[in-house]
Amino acid sequence: MPEPIIVTEDLSFTYPPNGEKLAFPVFEHLNVTIDRGSFTAVIGPNGCGKSTLAKHFNGVLLPSGGRVLVAGMETTDEELLLEIRRTVGMVFQNPDNQIVSNVVEEDVAFAPENLGVPTAEIRSRVNDALKTVGMYEFREHAPHLLSGGQKQRIAIAGVLAMQPTCIVLDEPTAMLDPRGREEVVETISRLNRERGITVVLITHHMSEAVNADRVIVMQDGGILLDGTPRTVFTQVETLRNAGLDVPQTTELLYELSRQGWNVPLDALSEAECAEALLRVLRSPD
Ligand SMILES: Nc1ncnc2c1ncn2[C@@H]1O[C@H](COP(=O)(O)OP(=O)(O)O)[C@@H](O)[C@H]1O
Ligand SMILES: [Mg+2]
Repeated sequence: MPEPIIVTEDLSFTYPPNGEKLAFPVFEHLNVTIDRGSFTAVIGPNGCGKSTLAKHFNGVLLPSGGRVLVAGMETTDEELLLEIRRTVGMVFQNPDNQIVSNVVEEDVAFAPENLGVPTAEIRSRVNDALKTVGMYEFREHAPHLLSGGQKQRIAIAGVLAMQPTCIVLDEPTAMLDPRGREEVVETISRLNRERGITVVLITHHMSEAVNADRVIVMQDGGILLDGTPRTVFTQVETLRNAGLDVPQTTELLYELSRQGWNVPLDALSEAECAEALLRVLRSPD
């Protein structure tokens, strides 16, 4: 049986009213469970509640109704908040907003220092985190001179130095060029695969969701689809009706199948897609 790391139970949430703007609920009775060691991608149109949900995953926001449990700890328990933040680390969209120091290694040391980790241990954690994200050789550099992808990897190292069980990344590649995106996605997948860190990746790049074990599609504060990338991305019409893209591989196969080609829709990776096309092109009829 998979063990849950984050559980929302009947989560309801409404932002406080702001001036004239009426407050309306973002979630009503939302139930989501994230399993320990899993890699979950969360996709959904703008404003559907992805960031609001992510902020409930480590107690940045607290439920208006229902509850959120992180490794069994309820996020409303103030005494547990530090431990909750240690368990679930967050990485945000804009790398520049996450840099707090002029030197890379000091930046990575910032969070564990605040958590009271002993100095000698901080050094080894910082070095280890920087090696893990492939940025060790930049440890004495100034973060603001690095590329977006490198800055985001420094932000991930900062979270890793807290030795979290789970990392939640809220559109971490949205401001990066394709190369930076690839660096960050590769780093994230490796943390999950090699270190067993639970990953929740919010993204609007479908190609990034293809690597996950599970894809959750949100719409209007609820869950529209939830399953493996193959089962989710083959629901092309449902995704399009929700205003979402499908991966380019699926789109190509979908259009071909509508033209009468006998191709599978679930050849998600580029290699699988190419193979599926070759099989059809080579078949005798
Ligand atoms: N600080 C806030 N105050 C009031 N409403 C907010 C705030 N942040 C987000 N919202 C609203 O909550 C809903 C969900 O937003 P959000 O979680 O940011 O969605 P997503 O990350 O999926 O784009 C939207 O309607 C948004 O306008
Ligand atoms: Mg968001």
